[in-house]
Amino acid sequence: MNNKSKSEAGYFAIARESADFSFEDFVSRYYSTEQPVIIEGVGESWPAKQRWTETYIRQALAKETKAEAASLWYWMERDMLSGDYQTPKLVQRLLDASNTFTRSKSMRIWVHNQDNVSSWHFDGNMVSVFNTQVTGQKEWFLVSPDTPLHCYPFVNFAIMNGNDAKSLIHKRYTHFMLNEGDMLYIPPLWFHKVISKAPENISLNWIMTKKETTVCSKTLNRELEKYRLQEYLFKHRFAWVKRTSKMIDAKLPGFLRSNWRYQSMIITQQPQRRFGLARYVLEELSALGRTLWHARKARSYYQQLKPVKQLDKADMNQPD
Ligand SMILES: [Fe+2]
Repeated sequence: MNNKSKSEAGYFAIARESADFSFEDFVSRYYSTEQPVIIEGVGESWPAKQRWTETYIRQALAKETKAEAASLWYWMERDMLSGDYQTPKLVQRLLDASNTFTRSKSMRIWVHNQDNVSSWHFDGNMVSVFNTQVTGQKEWFLVSPDTPLHCYPFVNFAIMNGNDAKSLIHKRYTHFMLNEGDMLYIPPLWFHKVISKAPENISLNWIMTKKETTVCSKTLNRELEKYRLQEYLFKHRFAWVKRTSKMIDAKLPGFLRSNWRYQSMIITQQPQRRFGLARYVLEELSALGRTLWHARKARSYYQQLKPVKQLDKADMNQPD
């Protein structure tokens, strides 16, 4: 692990471990402290490395009744296409752990062409992500949830200002290439920006949510206040708020949805701020000026986002 203290701003080199790294060491050094790490060579000998192309993925998933195309990625159930990869043992153990929220579709496949950019954001539902670069290469930037970027009001996307160097001032961040076969652990609430480097880049993710965390951060505080606000509004007979919020969520692509998807919130030691909800709402609304100022950058970014191709289940035996 790097020597820099967790709260110190500036660049740090991401930790790297080998594929035979033990579960216990992974948990104590990275998972419980929520620090990112690259585990090298995880997918080195997977058949997927040779087999996977966009065409292969679409044809293989079209045969799986429960696989589906989301807005920007494909969802899979655990162990689908299992002849193509081996689920790392540490991922298996975390998916099976009693203190993990899992979902029926716990795997995602991303297919990106060269120069595709995923703009700054952190993943919703406080997911821990195990992201293996099956083919290709991606350039990653990660920013600690202790030094958050400015976000659009009430969502987990950072305001696009067209100036990464400026955004990273006073942030605790790392920057690296994720190479073919390597697996990146992205802890909950870490901001990331990702740029695809090879002609075709396919990533396989496992995602899950810890039911309990001992790590506190500004971003966790913001997430908790968002959920407390939702609960407050929903519980105080503002039925129209709940209806509207669910309606907006249903219309949004998955990566912009804001509703917590589990029965209960995670257990944390994050202290609650005095007048937290009121302060939260004021802080979110204060981001409106910055949002409007940079609105053009966001519009052009969303216009060039390419949703994944739908899975043509009826036509699954036809060549692409
Ligand atoms: Fe993400």
